[in-house]
Amino acid sequence: MSPKNFILTSFLPGCFKANIPSLEPKLHDVCKPISIQRLYLSDVSNPGSPLSLSDLSSTHVLSSLHVFTLKELQLITQKFSRSNYLGGGGFGPVYKGFIDDRLRPGLKAQSVAVKMLDSDGTQGHMEWLTEVIILGQLKHPHLVNLIGYCCEDKHRLLVYEYMERGNLHDQLFTRYTVTLPWSTRIKIAVEAGQGLGFLHEQEKPVICRDFKASNILLDHDYNAKLSDFGLATDGPQGVDVTTRVMGTKGYAAPEYINIGHLSTMSDVFSFGVVLLELLTGRPSMDKSRHDRHKNLVEWASPLLKDHHKLDHIIDPRLEGQYSVEGARKAATLAYQCLSHHPKSRPTMSIVVKTLQPLLDMTDIPIGPFVYVVPSEGKNGSDMQKKGKETVIECEMVKNEKKCEGKEAEKKEKTRLRKGKGRRHRHRNKLLRSRAVYSDTALYKILGTSLHTLPKTSYREMNIEA
Ligand SMILES: Nc1ncnc2c1ncn2[C@@H]1O[C@H](COP(=O)(O)OP(=O)(O)O)[C@@H](O)[C@H]1O
Ligand SMILES: [Mg+2]
Repeated sequence: MSPKNFILTSFLPGCFKANIPSLEPKLHDVCKPISIQRLYLSDVSNPGSPLSLSDLSSTHVLSSLHVFTLKELQLITQKFSRSNYLGGGGFGPVYKGFIDDRLRPGLKAQSVAVKMLDSDGTQGHMEWLTEVIILGQLKHPHLVNLIGYCCEDKHRLLVYEYMERGNLHDQLFTRYTVTLPWSTRIKIAVEAGQGLGFLHEQEKPVICRDFKASNILLDHDYNAKLSDFGLATDGPQGVDVTTRVMGTKGYAAPEYINIGHLSTMSDVFSFGVVLLELLTGRPSMDKSRHDRHKNLVEWASPLLKDHHKLDHIIDPRLEGQYSVEGARKAATLAYQCLSHHPKSRPTMSIVVKTLQPLLDMTDIPIGPFVYVVPSEGKNGSDMQKKGKETVIECEMVKNEKKCEGKEAEKKEKTRLRKGKGRRHRHRNKLLRSRAVYSDTALYKILGTSLHTLPKTSYREMNIEA
């Protein structure tokens, strides 16, 4: 067994059991509790680590994690059935499961996501271990919660809290999803920024190295949490020529790709790319587009500087329903994050401070829209027979307008008086005067946590609240 494995065995109960059955009793014999405040990746990746076997085995830094058996994880995922399959990436497939105190006394009843290392995949034991060490110790409202792991023979699995709305990439770019409203996009940017900032503010900063939209998970209320730290490092910042460049094309910082220079500022660049994705509704790499338009940063960066060109790049699916002032600030921030000079980029704490006030900006025009209700249900039989749809004007808009209309209108008038771009004036006028069939509208109608309707509105629309 390599020295590396020898060390790892000691602090992750259950690991390598099958290979070295004789080690465990010895471990417990020699253990004296040693207060290691924090276990660093360098402690375990370096075979010549000053930490001895007994030091590691007696740390309690990972004691919050449950060590599951493979059998238990098979049980909670119905033997990793296809119907429980959530998706798969470089690490391996992910399955939904459910745990409660029938599985283990004291376990909180909750849905979980079980990620299984694929031995043929692009990642391996070290990535699995990195995830355990980072998420086992660093807890934050905007980092996904690692509940436990399984390490049996060759099997490596991770058990996380289940995030109902999957990842941001799918929410933004998959056709069947509804459009994320402006305010939700900003909330996601702030929260993801807080998660990343928390990692950077550690005594030994953790560099995420794979910050991207598909690694930002969303719960039912669109709270954002970062996931996937298999490629993370808490090693020294600087030129890293010893390891291969890791990360994702379209998100990785130029200095890291070109000369292997890795720092927290590389993550800030990736954050800038995600911010740009939120603003534009376009993915970082879009192979269906041609030439310069394939790479989002190359296409959008020159336009970010010029506020008059902003409406060329803001996601058209927002249909003008965004804060112009907020969009300008966010665009300027994205531009700074995407600077080719790492030192010119803002720190994550500055990023968060810049984005937070955008949550309170209310200069968001609200357009009327029409909802197309499929005429199903007890009273809709006539129309159903004819195969038609009933078009009703959305009551919610009426209600909302009563409350917010005056204030919004006042703000809008002031904005227009201030002589903002002519194009916007024209666009907003259009928005106010036409019926819009939109995904955003559907969100409002169906009363997701993005926009919750008053109960009366559901009744008026014949939709179960
Ligand atoms: N904790 C979780 N809750 C819900 N879905 C998850 C969770 N973790 C991962 N997933 C989903 O599993 C799929 C694969 O995830 P992952 O292995 O991280 O690959 P990638 O990041 O390349 O998409 C993704 O669609 C992701 O949304
Ligand atoms: Mg992921």
